[in-house]
Amino acid sequence: MKVLFVTSEVAGLYKRGGLADVSYSLPVALEKRGIHVAIAMPYYQSIKGHSVSCIGQLAIDYDRRRELMFIFETRLPGTDVPVYLFRHPLLHEYDGPDIVERFGFFAKAVAQLYLYSSGLLGGPYDIVHCNDWHTALVPLLLGEASKVGYRERETIESRTTRTILTVHNLLYQGEAGSSITLKLGFPKTLFHAFMTPLGRAVRLLTEGFEYADMVTTVSPTYAQEIMKGMHGKRVREVFHRRGDKIVGILNGIDTNLWSPSDDAALPVQYTHATVVSAKQKIKEQLQSAVRLPQVNVPLFGFVGRFESRQKGLDLIARAVKTLPPETYQIVLLGTGQKKLVGEFQKLSEMHENISYVNTFDERLARRIYAGSDIMLVPSKFEPCGLTQMIAMRYGTLPLVRKTGGLADSVRDGLTGFVFGPYSTAALVTKMQEAISVYAKQPRKFSTMMKNAMKEDFSWSHQVQEYINLYRKLF
Ligand code: GLC
Repeated sequence: MKVLFVTSEVAGLYKRGGLADVSYSLPVALEKRGIHVAIAMPYYQSIKGHSVSCIGQLAIDYDRRRELMFIFETRLPGTDVPVYLFRHPLLHEYDGPDIVERFGFFAKAVAQLYLYSSGLLGGPYDIVHCNDWHTALVPLLLGEASKVGYRERETIESRTTRTILTVHNLLYQGEAGSSITLKLGFPKTLFHAFMTPLGRAVRLLTEGFEYADMVTTVSPTYAQEIMKGMHGKRVREVFHRRGDKIVGILNGIDTNLWSPSDDAALPVQYTHATVVSAKQKIKEQLQSAVRLPQVNVPLFGFVGRFESRQKGLDLIARAVKTLPPETYQIVLLGTGQKKLVGEFQKLSEMHENISYVNTFDERLARRIYAGSDIMLVPSKFEPCGLTQMIAMRYGTLPLVRKTGGLADSVRDGLTGFVFGPYSTAALVTKMQEAISVYAKQPRKFSTMMKNAMKEDFSWSHQVQEYINLYRKLF
């Protein structure tokens, strides 16, 4: 079985969020199971310091011009997994104007190279596995290209190739004006355009839902939420029309990269046998590093993007004003939207028990995972979430809202704390419960810590679900 994994970000090369972690750890786990896997991604200018070689070039018709794309090959850092990097000025930066159209161009390049000379990419492959809106046009371009005379040859490799699209977050759908279809050189009729106040538009993610042989998402609960229409009626409608439903497979984490027993960022390493005393030391060092007083109250941690739609930071901002400051401390790490950043900077200046660090610093993140007692993940929605899994691996109890992958990975009262409604009151009540277990039932708290550390969030089980799915497609 051979799989080409197409993605916009991969940890070790270019990372923005959880997608990059999964785009690293899933291919590595597949490779360990004997699946031949390679990765295709854009060659951003910031990808530097890796040994790469140019293996070919490709002409692509785009926006009525002929564009030349260079293909480079490297290895996934620390592994033997091949990575094919697509180099073109339109793909030098990830962010910037016309982002949706630029990723449409990337998808066209992947599909065209695959159709004309998949050997260059180490193919042909049995499965082309795409991720999120950035790569969601690949199934359309691979599958429909032949029917619209885009390719003349009779033997079409894509017919023996199956496509999978995994959605990591429905919040981002890749919406563009319908002129993108002209730029790509494909008939409008292939796309499911709709009206917006600014004119006709298409969404790359939903085109992927229409055309991929199989659509998956990153937890069973998020899949159910999608089928219930909780993340948009239009999306649910596509699956009804397909007579199909979206499959949910919980993500894993790379337990070699996240391992308290040999994490060099920590002042002491530990296992579940030594967690209680080790944590105490790490917590004290963390408190002084982030300028929190050295007192014995539970320390809450938050590591993540500072954005207002998903992560529940609005609830945190209100909750911290409600709880008595002498009963707990909180340390937050991450960058993002100006308004939220400003709000937490102010909170941190005004309250002795609140510390906000406005950077992204992986070493500090690791010390927060290990040195906090409780990790806050009160997301409004969360397709999977990796922080709660990392926290449990480090013996830190996650306090999460019951949604998506958080609901599938944290057990209330056993491995963490789970609350229901998205409200400040519900969060405050759960935080009070956690504070009280910490203060009044230390034995229960440390049993929960050990339970959490014993949970297995490695890919070892979950990867088999992907392999079964790949097989099911033939
Ligand atoms: C996105 C989602 C997150 C998920 C990650 C990896 O970042 O928001 O919930 O864990 O992708 O699939």
